[in-house]
Amino acid sequence: MRVAVIGTGYVGLVAGTCFADAGHTVYCVDNDPTKIEGLKKGVLPIYEPGLDVLVERSVKEGRLFFTTSTPDAVKESEIVFLAVGTPPNEDGTSNLQYLRAASEEVGAAMEAAKTGHRIVVNKSTVPIGSHKTVAGWIAAKTSQPVDVVSNPEFLKEGDALDDFLKPERVVIGTHKKEIYEKMVELYAPFVRQGNPIIWMDPISAEITKYACNSFLATRISFMNELSHLCDATGGDVEAIRKGMATDSRIGKHFLYAGAGYGGSCFPKDVQALLHTGRNLNVDLSIIDAAEEANARQKQVLVKKVKAHFGSDLKGKTFAVLGVAFKPNTDDIREAPALTIMEELLKAGAKVRTFDPVAMEHGKKILEDRVTWTESMYDAADGADAMLLVTEWNEFKNPDLDKLGKKLKGRVIFDGRNIYDPKVMKAKGFTYFGIGRGNANLG
Ligand SMILES: NC(=O)c1ccc[n+]([C@@H]2O[C@H](COP(=O)([O-])OP(=O)(O)OC[C@H]3O[C@@H](n4cnc5c(N)ncnc54)[C@H](O)[C@@H]3O)[C@@H](O)[C@H]2O)c1
Repeated sequence: MRVAVIGTGYVGLVAGTCFADAGHTVYCVDNDPTKIEGLKKGVLPIYEPGLDVLVERSVKEGRLFFTTSTPDAVKESEIVFLAVGTPPNEDGTSNLQYLRAASEEVGAAMEAAKTGHRIVVNKSTVPIGSHKTVAGWIAAKTSQPVDVVSNPEFLKEGDALDDFLKPERVVIGTHKKEIYEKMVELYAPFVRQGNPIIWMDPISAEITKYACNSFLATRISFMNELSHLCDATGGDVEAIRKGMATDSRIGKHFLYAGAGYGGSCFPKDVQALLHTGRNLNVDLSIIDAAEEANARQKQVLVKKVKAHFGSDLKGKTFAVLGVAFKPNTDDIREAPALTIMEELLKAGAKVRTFDPVAMEHGKKILEDRVTWTESMYDAADGADAMLLVTEWNEFKNPDLDKLGKKLKGRVIFDGRNIYDPKVMKAKGFTYFGIGRGNANLG
């Protein structure tokens, strides 16, 4: 099939590349010429493990094209994906300016080329009812027939290729059987092992995306609140997690207490859903509480630092490990590390930081207010304490003797509970985890 993807960011580039890898012909469009020029030379605008290999292969085999021209891509394609950003406005609502512009450009392109029917697929995460809004924006620019489908994306940055190539499910929101069947044809290569393509109405598809992210955010916030109970009582949240995760009714995912969730999806999608609930007078108090708990959680590591060192941190230096909101991505949107570093600076501290891939993005925000270093040991050099914020693999098994020599204060605040408190203690570190109460026993 011939497919256009408008917006070549984390979602659009992954989706476009995976469709091309499955044998479809794909035109990836972005209105940022630097991104497109880079992609044409094999330079990817994002870090996603394995993506470069797939892009190179599909480009070489003539199935994947990069362009700044929406008209060219829409003319060539029977299915047009919208994968532009829907960032949050100040009040938590979704900013739909990119979606509107892209929709209108698609409509204008259909009109100019008299393309005939097109299926336009909304892959961006959008407010409930947006399939109708998008159809309206397109129809205002063209009299060519169009069907707008809601097809939310569930990929996780860092695991995006696996998630897209072997999705647990694909959700298709359309009222029309023939449109659903076209979408099934498109996705067939990814569900050969029998994972379902779930057909539902567009509104339910739009809500499903928000429901998944809000539910996962709620699980994390639930564990984070339990970690406070552990800190207060001496319980170990890691032991409790294992006790819960082995219950098949609960399952093992998204049960990790930590320094708070971030990223481009959970915070914004939770906010957007809450806003919709408020507008419609629908009480979403559980999700509201999850969001508030997360805002508090992003402060927890700094609170622990202040409890140990005092609230005036002048003259103290902290090593902050990890800038990305999670490992295996360079995405720093809403990253807890940014909040933590800002709070440390506000309290008068100096900050040395390191991240394997996200430092370029981080520099755009923190500039030279922190020291950007070359490794975790370099970050720790002369610091009073180390704060582990993003659980990159390379931080998980440090050479503790080397670290101990570098880290002046031998104090570790483990914001992701990746270190064994007993080992840390045995090596002479003062260790603070998240809800690790009595983890030192035994
Ligand atoms: N990042 C994720 O993990 C993820 C997962 C699931 C869903 N989503 C949703 O998918 C959507 C896209 O997210 P993202 O993270 O890929 O965003 P992104 O910011 O990485 O990419 C969006 C791209 O669209 C381009 N763009 C904007 N307007 C355009 C236009 N008119 N024509 C052509 N290109 C245009 C931008 O230049 C940018 O490259 C959002 O709604 C997001 O909520 C994201």
